[in-house]
Amino acid sequence: MVCLGNICRSPLAEGVLQEKLNRKGLDIKVDSAGTGGWHVGQRPDLRAIAIANKYGVDISHQKARQFSPTDFQEFDIIYAMDGSNLSDIVALAKSSEDIEKVGLILDELNVENNNYVPDPYYGGDEGFEKVYQLLDAACEIITKKMCNGKR
Ligand code: 4NP
Repeated sequence: MVCLGNICRSPLAEGVLQEKLNRKGLDIKVDSAGTGGWHVGQRPDLRAIAIANKYGVDISHQKARQFSPTDFQEFDIIYAMDGSNLSDIVALAKSSEDIEKVGLILDELNVENNNYVPDPYYGGDEGFEKVYQLLDAACEIITKKMCNGKR
């Protein structure tokens, strides 16, 4: 799960998907990173921690890190939160296999438009609620696919 700062969107995506997979008893490792390095080592934004808590997901232990080209070897699927994250990740790819691993998380919702998770950093709490609902819906679909061996 990759966003810009790894303190708002991708920590939520990591926490929500990991929680859903754990509940299904699936032993799959979920991680997150930011394309930028400004927040490396920091805990998620307090507003992200709070919205996750509201829905029973604890993301307070997470620490931000920067996306690394070695992540292409480490992970099978790389979900970007928006188009800018996607192009920044693809720019670090070394092969077509690397590029094939990368996609937009909201493409899982099969919507024509609005397939970017909006950056809630400079907005209010309602932005975090919206981000949570989008990620919850996408992660529900991803979990179902993983249960069926289709992801
Ligand atoms: P995120 O949100 O990419 O969802 O973690 C942001 C966090 C920090 C900044 C931008 C977006 N920033 O500019 O510091």
